[in-house]
Amino acid sequence: MSANITSVLKESRVFPPSNEFVGHTLVNEAERHRLCEWAASDFEGFWAAQAESLHWFYKWDKVLDWSNAPHAKWFTGGLINASYNCLDRHLTTARKNKAAIIWEGEPGDTKTLTYQQLHHQVCKFANGLKQLGIQKGDRVTIYMPMTPEAAIAMLACARIGAVHSVIFGGFSAEAVADRNNDAKAKLVITADIGWRRGNVIPLKQNVDAALEKSPTVEKVIVFNRARNTGVHMKPGRDIWWHDLMSDVSANCPAEHLDSEHPLFILYTSGSTGKPKGVLHTTGGYMLGASLTHKWVFDIKDDDVYWCTADVGWVTGHSYIVYGPLANGSTVVMYEGAPNHPKEDRFWDIVEKYRVTVLYTAPTAIRAFIKWGDEHPKKHDLSSLRLLGSVGEPINPEAWMWYHEVIGGGRCPIVDTWWQTETGAIMIAPLPGAVPTKPGSATKPLPGIFAEVVDKEGKVVPANSGGFLVVKKPWPSMMRTIYGDDQRFKDTYWSNYPGIYFTADGARQDEDGYIWVMGRVDDVLNVSGHRLSTMEVESALVNHPKVAEAAVVGRPDDLKGEAICCFVTLKQGNAPSDSLKADLKAHVAKEIGALARPDEIKFTDTLPKTRSGKIMRRLLRDIAANREGAQDTTTLEDYGVLAKLRADEE
Ligand code: WTA
Repeated sequence: MSANITSVLKESRVFPPSNEFVGHTLVNEAERHRLCEWAASDFEGFWAAQAESLHWFYKWDKVLDWSNAPHAKWFTGGLINASYNCLDRHLTTARKNKAAIIWEGEPGDTKTLTYQQLHHQVCKFANGLKQLGIQKGDRVTIYMPMTPEAAIAMLACARIGAVHSVIFGGFSAEAVADRNNDAKAKLVITADIGWRRGNVIPLKQNVDAALEKSPTVEKVIVFNRARNTGVHMKPGRDIWWHDLMSDVSANCPAEHLDSEHPLFILYTSGSTGKPKGVLHTTGGYMLGASLTHKWVFDIKDDDVYWCTADVGWVTGHSYIVYGPLANGSTVVMYEGAPNHPKEDRFWDIVEKYRVTVLYTAPTAIRAFIKWGDEHPKKHDLSSLRLLGSVGEPINPEAWMWYHEVIGGGRCPIVDTWWQTETGAIMIAPLPGAVPTKPGSATKPLPGIFAEVVDKEGKVVPANSGGFLVVKKPWPSMMRTIYGDDQRFKDTYWSNYPGIYFTADGARQDEDGYIWVMGRVDDVLNVSGHRLSTMEVESALVNHPKVAEAAVVGRPDDLKGEAICCFVTLKQGNAPSDSLKADLKAHVAKEIGALARPDEIKFTDTLPKTRSGKIMRRLLRDIAANREGAQDTTTLEDYGVLAKLRADEE
């Protein structure tokens, strides 16, 4: 990431909002100013007014209860349903027959569901869940390919007040079992297989393996994605999606749920080996997701909006399902890889559906650059009017390429900073109001009080590095870590009491623009996906031949960060290429393919301080091939450093 930071520091280009946006945007400069002032002077009044955009069965008694900080309650006493907001309320409007989801499978099959059709499916599936004994508050695991059924499953849970925990299809059986157990999931919704770059991902087989270790799961619903009749169906436990749907009623009124009723748990990596179950509740989350989707993407009724994330990540939750559907948008959903069958698949989709707003990740943009301009240039991309970026800092080179080659120099880029924990976008330009600078997410949205501070919590001077924090609560903030409230308080609220610690480093420039540099904890950002170094380390030491392991990130042109592992072997085991391959496969099996190490380095000992802490900074320098300017006098054994360096030659 250091290369990015250097170029970010030199970046000085500014792109003012284009005339087309200024005249037609939802939030222009004056309106943005008004909203920011309003939020500063009447915080609760501001949020109450924004919450009017949702449908409430009963409007709240109190906007914010922060008396039990860091546990916030938003819109207390309010009654609401996320599924009702995404579906039912559109059915009495012209949106009833509007496409809600335009889906394209990787093999090229397609399906379009109007709001009315989506509502019908969700109601039936919700009744199916009830038939299988799922009740309000029960946890349901969703481990699905990127098909409309994933969204149907989520919305059906929300409809009856069941709490979903979506697990990305790239995670392993082990990871599914851990998450099932942590959430005490009662039911798993999966598919026979998923498609990825023409290969089959054996989802059901992974679930079968996971369920050997997940005693709380009673039933499994299996969507038949590939007419793959070969999957094993355990009698009494497993039921086909289509069988469940064949005789259920489509009449399923949405439950009136408390605003603070849990909507979902989403596991994300922290700085220990155990993923955190980030808990989001209903009213505040729905407000954050829908309002930011409307503001940041300047959404209009005739937009064709495509977010390329997977529903297994928070971006898929907030910006494929809950935000856009609450706004009655047409969402494009694509199942597979960007380079299948060829490197122009995304541009083919943009042209085919006349996509107007595209939201993707810097890692994908860097891959497109590598694949060559000829792929986008083959297609008519003139329908695009706005581009978004999320997941990691976007390097100015990638920003400029996105702007010029994809956006034809006319589309604003909204670089959106946020986290699984924040639920919704926090820092981003509003495209008709804020001039953009390549590499900066610009300014906090109205109502969000983010700042860059030093260790003591004092705001740092312009252009000095510091920690990104959020000083006031916000509606879509996480409520706790499921089953581990102490970790919630320790991780996010102990550095600065009453202030949310993001674990990102940042600086603010002389214009107040925030430049996020990346994580300051032991979390890697690999292709825009969060991964804890400890998670990979525990997977490695699980291997019978490994004594000790230290995992660090190394800058990588495509992935942002690559996974570099230093491994010491148990007595009697010799380093070899086949053992390296073995260890890589082992980590992929334990966590999932996204965690497969890029590099394994065998070493006799790991450099440690006198107190026994692994010197990560040193290892990072070695991994990046940098001559570290560090003070190594605390090294237990100078020889270790010399030996590791010599191995580099
Ligand atoms: C990083 C993804 C810079 C950051 C929505 C954050 C970013 C972590 C940006 C959260 C951005 C996300 N600029 N860094 N626009 N967006 N990040 O939970 O380090 O998967 O803390 O949420 O990604 O990752 P998560």
